[in-house]
Amino acid sequence: MRWQPDVTRRKVLISGGLAAAAPLLPIAKGAPSLVRAPGVAGAPPPEQLHVQFGADAATEMAVSWVAADAVARSRLRLGRARDGDSAQHEFGFEVPAEERVYTEALTGERVFTYHARLTRLAPDTAYVYEVLHDGAPPVPGTFRTGPRGRESGFRFTSFGDQSVPAAVGQGLGPHTPNAGYIVDAVDALDPLFHLMNGDLCYANVSDAPVATWASFFTNNMRSARFRPWMPAAGNHENEVGNGPQGYLSYQTRFALPDNGSPGFLGNWYAFTVGPVRVISINNDDVCLQDGAFSAYRRDHVPGYQANGDNPYISGYSGGLQRAWLEAELAAARREESIDWIVVCMHQVAMSSAHFNGADLGIRQKFMPLFDAYGVDLVVAGHEHHFERSFPVRGVLPGSNLLTPAPRGSDPAEIDTSQGTVHMIIGGGGHSSPTPVSGFDIPHDGVLIVGVGPGSPQSQHATVTTTEPAPWSAYRDLQTPYGFASFDLVPHEPGGTTSITVTHYGAAAGSPAYAPLDRFVMRKPLGEGDGRHRGSVPATVPGATR
Ligand SMILES: [Fe+2]
Ligand SMILES: [Fe+2]
Repeated sequence: MRWQPDVTRRKVLISGGLAAAAPLLPIAKGAPSLVRAPGVAGAPPPEQLHVQFGADAATEMAVSWVAADAVARSRLRLGRARDGDSAQHEFGFEVPAEERVYTEALTGERVFTYHARLTRLAPDTAYVYEVLHDGAPPVPGTFRTGPRGRESGFRFTSFGDQSVPAAVGQGLGPHTPNAGYIVDAVDALDPLFHLMNGDLCYANVSDAPVATWASFFTNNMRSARFRPWMPAAGNHENEVGNGPQGYLSYQTRFALPDNGSPGFLGNWYAFTVGPVRVISINNDDVCLQDGAFSAYRRDHVPGYQANGDNPYISGYSGGLQRAWLEAELAAARREESIDWIVVCMHQVAMSSAHFNGADLGIRQKFMPLFDAYGVDLVVAGHEHHFERSFPVRGVLPGSNLLTPAPRGSDPAEIDTSQGTVHMIIGGGGHSSPTPVSGFDIPHDGVLIVGVGPGSPQSQHATVTTTEPAPWSAYRDLQTPYGFASFDLVPHEPGGTTSITVTHYGAAAGSPAYAPLDRFVMRKPLGEGDGRHRGSVPATVPGATR
C-alpha cells in the first residue's frame, strides 16, 4: 500500500535516525509548521513535483519542483514514518532548495525550478516530505529509498516517447489520452522507480514549450512525486536555442546524479539500486540521424540564424561521453556487489521498422562497450512500438553494417551473461505509433547508415538500408501503446539471479493495459562479474572513438 502523508496531522518535532543534505535546519519544537514572511502572501504554489534517485539509491534522493515566479525561502521538510505508518510521521528537518532558472528561447519565458538534495538517508525506507516556500501552502509527497545490495528484490518499469495527455498551445506537438492513462497503469504496479527512455514531452516541436513541459510534469506528478521517474534525454529534448545543445530546459528541470561535466549535467549519469547499476546516456552525441530539427523553432526562435542555432549535434561531446561510459562500465564490472548493468537510452541499435530505423552511430561508438563490459539490458524508445532482441554480442561474420549477432534462440528464457537484451519500448503515448505498414516484411532490420545534405535551416534526410535481423526475438505489430515492468530476484536457489520482464499494452484511447509478452533474464550469480574481471581490455580494439 502506498504510504500517504497526512499533512493535517503534521507534527513538527525533531526526529531521531534521520539525516539529510547539509545544511540541515532542525525545526524548533513547537514552532509554527508554516512560517509566512511579510509581503509574500499569495506566492504561486509549488507545482510539477517529482523525485529522483541520487547516485546511491539507498541513501540519496533529490526532490524537484517548479513555481510560476521566483519565490522566497524554497525548502523541503523531511520526515520518516513511525512504525511504517505514514499517518504517524514527523517532519524533523528542513533542507533549503537550490533555485535554477532558464529562459525559453522561443517565448522569452523564465522558468523557476527548485531542487532539494537529500543524502545519508536510510536504505529501503519510506519517507514523507513536503515542499514549500513563503506565501504558499506546502505540497506533500513520499518516497522510498532503494535496498542495499542483494538484500531484497524490487520492481522497476520503463517506457519512452510519452508526450502529453491533451493539446497544448496550438496543438502542434503530439498528445493522446494514453499519455495520461499510462501513468496510472505504471503507478498501479507500485514500482520502486521508473525509467523514461527519452522523448519526454516533445516540447521542441511545440509553439508553447514551457506549457508542454508543465503539462508533462503535471501529468506524471501523480506517480513521480512518490517514486523516481529517471529520464534519458532523447532527440526531442533538444530544443534548439536553449543552451549549446538545446538541453537547457531538460537540464534545469531535473536534479540527476553528477557526471563530472557541469555543461552536460543530466545528459549522462548513473545510479546504483540494489545489485543493479543503471546507466543513462544520450545517443544524440553519436547518432547519424538529424532528429531534433523543428521548422517551428527555425521560423520563430528570435535570432535563430544570427545566433548560429543548429539542432544537428552529432559528436557534440567530443568523445567525453564515451570515455565516461567506458569508465562507468568498467567500474560497474569491477564492483562485486553489482550483478546487473542496465542502460537507459533513446535511439536504438536495432529495429525492424521503417519508422526511424536503428542508427549505425550507436553500433560504432557504444555497442563495442556494451559487449566488452557485459551490459545485461538496454531499454530504449524512439521507435514507437515494442520489440526485443535475443541476447546479442559481437556482429554477424563479415557484416560491414555491424549487425549484432544473436547468442541464444530461446525468446522466453535468456542468459544475459551470453549477451545483451535490447528492448524498444517506445509506445509511451505519442500520437503517431509505428504503423503496421512500417514493419519490414519479411522480418528484416532497418538501419540508418548516413544522412544527406542539410543545414540549420533544413533537416538532413536519413540514408537507410535493410539487413538480416536474426537478433529479433519478438515484436508487437498491433499494440500501439505500452510499457514494461521488471521484477528483480537478487538471489535464487541454485545460485542464480533473475529479472522477469512483462510488456503491458493498450489500444489507442484505452486505459486498460494488459500483459502481452513475458520473458525471464537469468544468470549465475557472480559469474558475470568474474567472467569480465581482469579480461576487459583498457580500450576496445577496433571501436570507433
Ligand atoms: Fe519519439
Ligand atoms: Fe526520438
